[in-house]
Amino acid sequence: MKAVILVGGLGTRLRPLTCNTPKPLIPLVNQPFIEWMLVRLRDQGIDEVILAVQYLADRFRAVLGDGSRLGMRLHIIEEPEPRGTAGAVKNVEHLLDGPTFVFNGDVMTDLDLQAMLAYHREHQSKVTISLTPVEDPTQFGLVEMDSNQRVKRFLEKPRVEDITTNLINAGTYIIEPEIFRYVPPNQFYMFERGLFPVVLQTGDAMYGFASRAYWTDIGKPQTYLDVHHDILIGKVKYGFRGQEIANRVWVEGDADLHPSAQIVGPVVIGAGTVVERGARIIGPTVLGANCHIGPDANLEGMVLWADNHISEGVTLRNSVLGRGNTIGPKSFISDGAIIGDDCNFGPENRLERGIRIWPGTVLGEKAISF
Ligand code: GDD
Ligand code: MG
Repeated sequence: MKAVILVGGLGTRLRPLTCNTPKPLIPLVNQPFIEWMLVRLRDQGIDEVILAVQYLADRFRAVLGDGSRLGMRLHIIEEPEPRGTAGAVKNVEHLLDGPTFVFNGDVMTDLDLQAMLAYHREHQSKVTISLTPVEDPTQFGLVEMDSNQRVKRFLEKPRVEDITTNLINAGTYIIEPEIFRYVPPNQFYMFERGLFPVVLQTGDAMYGFASRAYWTDIGKPQTYLDVHHDILIGKVKYGFRGQEIANRVWVEGDADLHPSAQIVGPVVIGAGTVVERGARIIGPTVLGANCHIGPDANLEGMVLWADNHISEGVTLRNSVLGRGNTIGPKSFISDGAIIGDDCNFGPENRLERGIRIWPGTVLGEKAISF
């Protein structure tokens, strides 16, 4: 079975984390998000995947190659210009045969794909859309069904007064190839505002597949942090790759952990990371590869990418650090702060409440954010 993953977006809402890294390549528990997605697809019987990218195809090729390392066939296809969600699939139509899975590339879910495929076949559906309940559908595509789960209305980014259900498009579709005849070639065209409303008019069978699988859009800094916490506390099925050296403490390769350091799981520690004397690492926390955590540092609820240098007595809480930062002694970073890559902070800086720091920022000492 084949699948297309849509990975064209710019990831602007996740800046500064996406300043240097395309959104699908940002790490999820120390593994590029898209790689985790590919492994999940492979494990559920999808062995050939087309990545529909819009830019930076070479970055994807450098990380993923032809997919053989992951045990699958992978095609990385760059669009000549943004074609929209359906136009992007039309652009790779020549590679498709039979029913095809299509995925939004920015969704974290443990949806059962084989169950969805069985449902699609049972209903002789031409388009099946996975659905998930959310509190606020205004940021999503609202999907209304009749009592037989046939889709009867699709409304992208509904206004509050148009909300009739909490079920939204969860960004996984199964589509029969003949349906692509409705998509005009070589143009910008969307599933959400183009193809789905058209299919409602033509009367081809379009069904919703509602599930309570774990589901979240990783496209915002707070959800990026929340997804990590959810994975670590076991809310979503996830195969940790390291060795479990203590209760819910996984180490991915060699790490140097001082005996007086206190590590309370769930914690994942990347290869080559050093944790010095008296440091406290409290889960849910992920430390990237080759990080250095100085003496008596306190980390809780953190996501650190690779190559960070955390000095003595630093406190870090519920925040994200990109790659290659140096945090000076006794600094304090908390409450959803998002630090880009390659920043250099002197001693005793205090950064809080969702502050975003752009890559390469240099701070002297004792700066305070408001
Ligand atoms: N190749 C390619 N080309 N990919 C694209 C393009 C394009 O022109 N435009 C968007 N994408 C990719 C994005 O990278 C993302 O993975 C996916 O298509 C969806 O686009 P978003 O920009 O993230 O859309 P959204 O989050 O506002 O809404 C979509 O997702 C919701 C679920 O998260 C819609 O499908 C909603 O209906 C849905 O509820
Ligand atoms: Mg999205």
